[in-house]
Amino acid sequence: MTTEALTQDAAPKRPHTIPSYLDSAHLGPWAIYLEQVERVTPYLGKLAYWVETLKRPKRILIVDVPIHLDDGTVAHFEGYRVQHNTSRGPAKGGIRYHQDVTLSEVMALSAWMTVKNAAVNLPYGGGKGGIRIDPRNYSQGELERLTRRYTTEIGLVIGPEKDIPAPDVNTNPQVMAWMMDTYSMNTGKTSTGVVTGKPVSLGGSLGRSDATGRGVFVTGAAAMQKLGMSLEGARVAVQGFGNVGNAAARIFHDHGAKIVAIQDVTGTVVSSAGIDPYKALEHLRSTGKITDLPETESIEKDEFWDIDCDVLIPAALENQLTEANAGRIRAKVVVEGANGPTTPAADDILRGRGVTVVPDVLANAGGVTVSYFEWVQDFSSFFWTEDEINARLERIMREAFASLWDVAEKHGVTLRTAAFIVACTRVLEARALRGLYP
Ligand SMILES: NC(=O)c1ccc[n+]([C@@H]2O[C@H](COP(=O)([O-])OP(=O)(O)OC[C@H]3O[C@@H](n4cnc5c(N)ncnc54)[C@H](O)[C@@H]3O)[C@@H](O)[C@H]2O)c1
Repeated sequence: MTTEALTQDAAPKRPHTIPSYLDSAHLGPWAIYLEQVERVTPYLGKLAYWVETLKRPKRILIVDVPIHLDDGTVAHFEGYRVQHNTSRGPAKGGIRYHQDVTLSEVMALSAWMTVKNAAVNLPYGGGKGGIRIDPRNYSQGELERLTRRYTTEIGLVIGPEKDIPAPDVNTNPQVMAWMMDTYSMNTGKTSTGVVTGKPVSLGGSLGRSDATGRGVFVTGAAAMQKLGMSLEGARVAVQGFGNVGNAAARIFHDHGAKIVAIQDVTGTVVSSAGIDPYKALEHLRSTGKITDLPETESIEKDEFWDIDCDVLIPAALENQLTEANAGRIRAKVVVEGANGPTTPAADDILRGRGVTVVPDVLANAGGVTVSYFEWVQDFSSFFWTEDEINARLERIMREAFASLWDVAEKHGVTLRTAAFIVACTRVLEARALRGLYP
């Protein structure tokens, strides 16, 4: 059959069902992703023939991760690696250590990676991994043993040309260094390209640690420009002050914006005069918490959503902007540093209230973009300067923003649906051209 024949309009012969390994009554983040796919389907034309391919991951690996604890006992942890789609290239996506990791969550995060990589036009599919653990309760030695055993277990499916992990919530360059070393020892050769987000001295890329936050800034500033908003003095509230949130806050601050609120897992601080994010970071490093930061006031966790600001950056976890709080948001622009922070119902409320949402699959794509640069540099063993990296990153993010803005205007849809239109079209075109094997 020709590609043309394989993209005809055709009603599926059997209704699609939720796979038996998920609880259809409690679908979790995967339900949000499925709803987003439903919303884009009318815009896919003949490629909608292939849309079911987006509704199930290509491969799911669930592993048991046993380790010796420091007290001499053995503990077992639940680990996952999901490869959602590899039509456009190897799977790519982070590894999360968090006590609430579930299969549904890792599936959704892997699918958003497929969409993100295609939206920005990186030659990757989507993947994600996670271990269900609260790393705050474990020593460095325990986390190293956990990482090494997990890497060995998922070693079956990862590799520089197959699936390339990176940091996500509660994982960092040190975890990537352990993963790279474990994979290299198991395969008998130093394999720097198996993970990205490594320390610079181990084949990591300059600019990677701030890359996601920088992308949040570039796309947020582009949206503000379209809306006629000035960066100078713009009031920014940030939820999450880790890799993404603190870099975004610093870069907005460096460009004249005022950080009026920071929330993290330890609490919420506000200051209408503006918080210096460099001082906040120093305070967090020395005290382990964001609260009690001099010249700020602490407020209740839920009051964060009422803060008077121009830009809101959710940069913590998914499912934060919901039907329950979307009506309270006072920002004009929401820039999604986190993956999946806004539910579809909240999207509708925000749209109805004229709030522009720069969606995760665009706003936080700066991290995977510089991960792509890192992977390319590792293959060629030739490293670029930080200025080159930042300039290339900014160009890619600005161009992606501009083309998605045009698609959104053309179809009268949100930037999220525009990103899904562009990305799903690219993924399904590749699917149609490759055909089904065998
Ligand atoms: N690191 C990257 O390069 C990258 C790239 C793209 C997307 N993301 C996404 O960005 C988000 C944050 O990732 P990160 O790498 O910055 O993680 P991180 O572990 O460095 O930081 C997470 C931050 O969220 C805060 N947090 C956790 N639970 C919270 C809660 N219940 N309420 C408020 N704050 C809470 C933590 O205190 C911390 O400040 C995640 O959704 C991740 O998937 C990360």
